[in-house]
Amino acid sequence: MRSVALCVALFAIFAGVASAGKRDWTGSAACGACHPKQLAAWQTTRHAITRDRFPGRPEARCLGCHGTGEAPAGPAIAVEVGCEACHGAGAAYAEDDLMRNGPVARSLGLADLSTPKLRAAMCMQCHSRPTRGRPFDPTTPVHPVKP
Ligand code: HEC
Ligand code: HEC
Ligand code: HEC
Ligand code: HEC
Repeated sequence: MRSVALCVALFAIFAGVASAGKRDWTGSAACGACHPKQLAAWQTTRHAITRDRFPGRPEARCLGCHGTGEAPAGPAIAVEVGCEACHGAGAAYAEDDLMRNGPVARSLGLADLSTPKLRAAMCMQCHSRPTRGRPFDPTTPVHPVKP
């Protein structure tokens, strides 16, 4: 199984199909099936409850930051700042053997957040404008997991 999936992954890389498209999103529940601690921690944060801000159907321009998916250019898959809003569209990499191989997972769309700079740049996609006069701290834990 492992080698089959790796072959598929390598084929995907060489065929250049790793760029995101609508079907490339799995949703936070799928990630949480293998990462239940991160899922539980994330569910207690405001990233998980952005839907509560919108009494009706949110505008696409809002979903660029309050949603996960292709908004505002395309559809959002969920009204939440879900796992994939930070980690990248996951359908291609969210398999056990692929995820254990960092370089392969990243080549299939898993965002590289390994340095403070990369991490901050990711946050700044949405947190660029100061809000409520409070400075934004990109080092704030977003799903603290107890060891
Ligand atoms: C079938 C199980 C499975 C699914 C589904 C899954 N993962 Fe993983 N993930 C793993 C395994 C296994 C590892 C590597 C071992 C570990 O660090 O726990 C991993 C590692 C990671 C890492 C750490 C990578 C690193 O280089 O340190 C991140 C981030 C991650 N997964 C995010 C996600 C996201 C986001 C999703 C949903 C799109 C997802 N995972 C879906 C099994 C899975
Ligand atoms: C560029 C990204 C971005 C866009 C676009 C955006 N928001 Fe936000 N919004 C944020 C961030 C980040 C926060 C959290 C700020 C904080 O509390 O520090 C936020 C917070 C909010 C809050 C809570 C404010 C509070 O005081 O607690 C509301 C309500 C809101 N946004 C509504 C909207 C609506 C409606 C739209 C579309 C018209 C929209 N936002 C578009 C990034 C964005
Ligand atoms: C707001 C952005 C954001 C969201 C949303 C998010 N993550 Fe993360 N995640 C990060 C960052 C940043 C790191 C790197 C932590 C570090 O080492 O500084 C990380 C690390 C991880 C790791 C590596 C182990 C760890 O806990 O550090 C896993 C696994 C993971 N995330 C899974 C998930 C899953 C599953 C979800 C959804 C339930 C999710 N993440 C939602 C930003 C996010
Ligand atoms: C896809 C857009 C997006 C990304 C990427 C993102 N955030 Fe957010 N974040 C939001 C939105 C939108 C809110 C406001 C949610 C609400 O209150 O409805 C928010 C709220 C927060 C809050 C709560 C603010 C408060 O006043 O309580 C913190 C803390 C936060 N984000 C930290 C981070 C960090 C740290 C990162 C990067 C590791 C990050 N976010 C990445 C969109 C994003």
